[in-house]
Amino acid sequence: MMKRKLLVIDDDPQMRFFLEQALKTENYDITLAESAEEGLEHLRQENFGLIMTDVRLPGMSGLDALREIKSINPQAVVIVMTAFSSRDTALEAVKRGAYDFFPKPFKVSEMRIVIRRALERVELTEEIDKLKRELHNREKFTALVGQGEPFLDMLSRLEKVAPIPSTVLIVGESGTGKELVAEAIHDNSTRAGKPLVKINCAAIPATLLESELFGYKKGAFTHATSDREGKFQAAHTGTLVLDEMGDLSLDLQAKLLRALEQQEVQRVGSAVPEQVDVRVVASTNRPLEKLLEEKKFREDLYYRLAVFQVRVPPLRDRLGDIAVLARHFVKMYADLFDKPLVGLTDDAVAVLNAYNWPGNVRELKNCIEAASVMTDRDIIDVGDLPPHVVSGRGSDDLDGQGKFFLDETLSRIEKQMILDALTRTNGVQVKAAQLLGINERSMWHRVKKYDIEVASFQT
Ligand SMILES: Nc1ncnc2c1ncn2[C@@H]1O[C@H](COP(=O)(O)OP(=O)(O)OP(=O)(O)O)[C@@H](O)[C@H]1O
Ligand SMILES: [Mg+2]
Repeated sequence: MMKRKLLVIDDDPQMRFFLEQALKTENYDITLAESAEEGLEHLRQENFGLIMTDVRLPGMSGLDALREIKSINPQAVVIVMTAFSSRDTALEAVKRGAYDFFPKPFKVSEMRIVIRRALERVELTEEIDKLKRELHNREKFTALVGQGEPFLDMLSRLEKVAPIPSTVLIVGESGTGKELVAEAIHDNSTRAGKPLVKINCAAIPATLLESELFGYKKGAFTHATSDREGKFQAAHTGTLVLDEMGDLSLDLQAKLLRALEQQEVQRVGSAVPEQVDVRVVASTNRPLEKLLEEKKFREDLYYRLAVFQVRVPPLRDRLGDIAVLARHFVKMYADLFDKPLVGLTDDAVAVLNAYNWPGNVRELKNCIEAASVMTDRDIIDVGDLPPHVVSGRGSDDLDGQGKFFLDETLSRIEKQMILDALTRTNGVQVKAAQLLGINERSMWHRVKKYDIEVASFQT
């Protein structure tokens, strides 16, 4: 659970102090404001789920503030505090959208109950919001399967990036779904329906790449018996997906930069530039920052490409997605192989969840394909899954995808143990450290290393 943010607006310093003290023990993150104006300033900068405000305030009144608060955040849950004598004002506030009121003076115990109830309401609206967001993005990004938090965050980002004309850089390990993401960007842009052209720079010999990208003139080289257009011309008015452009030579990088900046390309063997209108979406599974350092990638091109970055998380960090993806693929192969497959057993799902998926979604897809072929029942069980997945080892392929990744695996286990210890000790780090048999300092170190939000374990 995250620490809840509360905003308290009251001009009476004693009241502010009292509320702060009373609420501190409840593990809320409290911000105090002396006036409605100051409170609104806070609201414009941060998101508060719950706001408590006095009615009679020096400048703007609590009632007028209510209208402003609602215009900044229509979902905000507001509690009005007012002297008992002005009950009518309180009712007026509720009419204007306050969630509740309580008369002053009040007992701490009563106030706590009111706040807790209000927070339940905040959580409910947030949950509904999340579902709406999910549904909304679902309609747009139907090809992408997933439901976990990291995946939904990525969808939100895609939604922002897709409609604007900028260049996008998609980064992520092999098999995470970068190509699918690139397609989704095109489909949700103003260029949907226009050409979507893809080129894998790593798969084409360096000598041919330039003419593949920009085309050539008749006579440019021995076999150039006629003019030919390149991928840029083919993608005119649409989107060009440049896969693995980390492999481009420095010379081609310069030409690509020019194409991006001036929307202009030159065919091999031609001196005349051609105008093209192309949105470029680039993707890479190699850390470009490293290539930058080694001076194998132009900095100016990097910054041009990376105006927007979309990071596709590896499958092992998307635990919430494994089961849904697996079911999605089972359905797909059931149709494809015309088999009456209905799904996976719980045990099979548990095995899939425990595996670390070095080859990411592609590996999961292949695994389900194999299992769909193997099984002679209508449901996939543990016995149908490839042995290396069941035994929890990476595959023994030597193509670099099936390594064991000792450091990564140890880190994952370490992080999990720390999370478990924090859960068991309600986020008390000293106790968690004792449980783990490490000292406080090294506990603190690891919490930082894994970016763990300790407060979220405190109940
Ligand atoms: N979220 C997803 N929902 C459904 N299918 C997915 C998803 N992510 C990936 N896939 C499938 O997994 C396979 C691998 O995805 P993709 O080719 O997009 O990966 P990639 O990141 O481009 O890999 P590489 O770096 O090796 O080119 C594809 O068959 C794709 O359809
Ligand atoms: Mg790809």
